[in-house]
Amino acid sequence: PETDADTLRTPIVAVLGHVDHGKTSLLDRIRGSAVAAGESGAITQHIGATAVPLSVISEIAGELVDPTDFDLPGLLFIDTPGHHSFSTLRSRGGALADIAILVVDVNDGFQPQTLEAIDILKRTETPFIVAANKIDTVPGWRPNENSPVQQTMESQSERVQSDLNENLYEIIGELSDNGFSADMYWRVQNFQANIGVVPVSAETGEGVPDLLTVMMGLSQRYMKEEMAIDAAGPGVGTVLEVKDTQGFGTTLDAIIYDGTIRADDTIVVGGLQGPIVTDVRALLRPRPLEEIRTEQTFEQVDAVAAADGVKIAAPDLDGAMAGAPIRVIRDRNRSEVIAEVESE
Ligand code: GTP
Ligand code: MG
Repeated sequence: PETDADTLRTPIVAVLGHVDHGKTSLLDRIRGSAVAAGESGAITQHIGATAVPLSVISEIAGELVDPTDFDLPGLLFIDTPGHHSFSTLRSRGGALADIAILVVDVNDGFQPQTLEAIDILKRTETPFIVAANKIDTVPGWRPNENSPVQQTMESQSERVQSDLNENLYEIIGELSDNGFSADMYWRVQNFQANIGVVPVSAETGEGVPDLLTVMMGLSQRYMKEEMAIDAAGPGVGTVLEVKDTQGFGTTLDAIIYDGTIRADDTIVVGGLQGPIVTDVRALLRPRPLEEIRTEQTFEQVDAVAAADGVKIAAPDLDGAMAGAPIRVIRDRNRSEVIAEVESE
């Protein structure tokens, strides 16, 4: 209910890692979509957002998850670009995150943007797990579509198992070189003290049940207090992208991470020429499981509560900036809110 002073919001999960290590593909696997295939040059160039409800997570996780163990509504995934030129977008994604998945190609190991991502996670003190992706490319691998990872690993030949383990221990070694004690996720008891490594394949879905189970468990266990928000309070968010939307002119793709934004709110948005004060004209919400970057069919809604992706239509947004803060004024003092946006 909207008046509940203590609602648990969706945790924001940033997906970070080196270019081509499979961030978008992993999200595609979870969404059942093909966003990566449609990207120009197969490179992600913007931050994306996708809300994945608990029902979908528990369906994919299967026997590994008991949905009644969870009272968080799901996970909001933030896709980030791995290409070296998008370092601002990576930090922005990292700063928004409550938790993160660091995607590492199990054959390629640590690469420059893997290290850059680690630095962001350290700086922002974001807890994370490592998805050691592309396990299906180990020579001789026999895929078991969507299988929990320990099951499929045990079903491989000894040769394949030892090749994979060698690569996995290299990643664990790299994490240790960077100051993190890490281990295979099923051996980790305390995910705050140790980084769990989850072997996965975005191509075959192997290990994806494990990845989602660990993320839900981690958020439920360690994030719950931080997720308690005043859902009816004035919304706070960040601009992901400023772009034209047919019929609405210049709009903002945004993440709301606290409170609620309503269709009749006045908002303050950071702009190139200083804060923009404007009245929301429409709130457009992507369907669940749709990437806000590529969604075509938006639903016009009266309100959006944290944490969620939303497209905001309003006059005077031409000067708005990606990365800028968004704040709802509602019953707050207008100049105080403007000052907050200015100083952020
Ligand atoms: P950027 O966003 O540009 O940083 O790349 P990304 O990390 O999102 O990688 P993307 O998902 O675009 O995948 C890069 C390539 O690796 C694509 O050709 C994918 O099909 C392939 N790929 C990703 N995951 C897997 C996997 O688990 N197995 C195999 N065999 N290929 C994969
Ligand atoms: Mg990508």
